[in-house]
Amino acid sequence: MEANFHEEYYNDNINWICVGLTYDLPKRNDFILYKGYGHNIFIQNNGDEIEAYSNICLHRSASIFQQQSGNGRAICPYHGWFYKQGKCTQTKKELAKYKVVLAGDFIFLELNKTDQALSAYLGEFYFLLQTISSRFQASEFMNKSLKIKSSVNLVLENVLECQHCLHIHKSTLGPIGMGQGMPKDHITYGRHDKISYPLTISANRRVPQDISILRDESFVYDHLFVYPNLLVSITNNEFVYIGVLSSNSLNTETYISARGLLLRGLDPNDRKIKAFYSMSWSNTLKVLEEDRIIVEDQFGNFINFNAMNNNFAFGEDRIKNQKNKQKQK
Ligand code: FES
Ligand SMILES: [Fe+2]
Repeated sequence: MEANFHEEYYNDNINWICVGLTYDLPKRNDFILYKGYGHNIFIQNNGDEIEAYSNICLHRSASIFQQQSGNGRAICPYHGWFYKQGKCTQTKKELAKYKVVLAGDFIFLELNKTDQALSAYLGEFYFLLQTISSRFQASEFMNKSLKIKSSVNLVLENVLECQHCLHIHKSTLGPIGMGQGMPKDHITYGRHDKISYPLTISANRRVPQDISILRDESFVYDHLFVYPNLLVSITNNEFVYIGVLSSNSLNTETYISARGLLLRGLDPNDRKIKAFYSMSWSNTLKVLEEDRIIVEDQFGNFINFNAMNNNFAFGEDRIKNQKNKQKQK
């Protein structure tokens, strides 16, 4: 099955991966899962620090934690083997352990052993993530977990190309001019990239009421991709969306852990700001839903039909960047 012909652009050289935010694990025994790129991992707050271990039981390979997130001890549901800090209390066998390093509030795991420190892997994106983290207001997070019936990389390519923005998102991103102006300030570091889309609210275009508060202001939409699964967008330097992608064991479903947040420094009680915040979050969820429908359809075509694929990345600089990096290897 060739479900995603660009699979190879994203499946190599993955040393570090983002699995979530420190805000996902506030209490002892809180856990989240990361599945993807050949790894099934649980990440847990042990009371002192965040640790990460293989989520595959050493007895007969059941998943120790079955839920995507929660709170509990690491007890395999199949025959009850119990793991304490990765060590099985009955058999003394040890689960594979992954190194955990933070960039601001973003949790990264060393997925494959590397000599490259996280800061070197991320380059200037390391400081960008630190800077964004310093503006988080923890109590203000909006959260949503979404499931898309598609491979993770097809979801990723949908995000990296914005030629569809004016079509699929004509009622959500269209009114703010997304997809109209040429993207600019494309920065790449390794396989990570950042791009800015100019946004405009034209006087003669119908705009939702809450966006119209920004009429006459020209603003910008910055989008960061941290290879291979972290997406961060910042609207007008005020609202941040964070999406962390993972998949199921078969890579036929993608999970997006989505968050929306008003950045620190803005008065959350200001009427205009409040309206902007709730509009931005509900718009984000609508955009994700619009993408879900189209990507699930595409994925079905790749699996079940003879989908053509040769022009897929035409004109898409961010996808080309992945292609070129892969060629350079
Ligand atoms: S498979 Fe985990 S205890 Fe048997
Ligand atoms: Fe989209």
